Amino acid sequence: QPLLETAVIGRNINYHETVTSTQIIAHQLAQDGAPGGTAVLAETQTAGRGRLARNWDSAAGKGIWMSIILRPAIMPQRAPQFTLVTAVAVVQAIEEVTGLRPEIKWPNDVLLNGRKCTGILTELQADMDSVQALIIGIGLNANQTQDDFDPAVREVATSLRMEGDKPVERAVLVRSIFRHLEKYTDLYIENGFAPLKVLWESYSVTIGKRIRARTAREVLEGLAIGITDDGVLELKTDDGKIHTIYSADIELAT
Ligand code: BTN
Repeated sequence: QPLLETAVIGRNINYHETVTSTQIIAHQLAQDGAPGGTAVLAETQTAGRGRLARNWDSAAGKGIWMSIILRPAIMPQRAPQFTLVTAVAVVQAIEEVTGLRPEIKWPNDVLLNGRKCTGILTELQADMDSVQALIIGIGLNANQTQDDFDPAVREVATSLRMEGDKPVERAVLVRSIFRHLEKYTDLYIENGFAPLKVLWESYSVTIGKRIRARTAREVLEGLAIGITDDGVLELKTDDGKIHTIYSADIELAT
């Protein structure tokens, strides 16, 4: 068996013991012309970042803290789809390596038993009508125990080890993520987002549920009816209006 089973993703690896954030390094490398598929990995991050300007807790040696540079020929508004494509790839990698059954909470949270084990952050280098690079950040909690988490996230976070009762080999998981991500980005380029959308929906805990969505501007409550072809969430409020939501915090409404 070859060491790497991919043609593009992970062929160029940029590994660090400690970084501020693999996103920051990946942005710089992309600016300097690093090829699509380049992956930046670190044992720990001192300033790991999450969505909505939050920190990302990155315990040393315990997780996969990785940013992948992709260079798809797409319009910038298609970028959110890659968050969903990445989520599908990560779910299948976790399934393959651990036998656990993760679920996806829109847009980017991978959950095990209702707790977050992976977050995905997609950032863009683009102008009006073309994407130079997508920087896809994956933060995967692999081998943490409860005590390894920051008290602020202890209640809502989990790891593969905590859910599966055994440690996982991070390198095996990284290779599996590369393989699944390459398969699905190839599928996307050939057949568009439609087949990926079906896959994403099959793992989703959001669609078909009554949810509360906190956007930067308002709080909306209603039924999550689906995602659009752009990967944007559609929510139907009780007055029958359909809202498209680009970015929000989602919780199940009671
Ligand atoms: C989220 O759920 O808010 C997204 C979290 C993304 C975290 C990863 S860890 C690797 C990469 N580097 C960062 O600083 N953030 C992403």
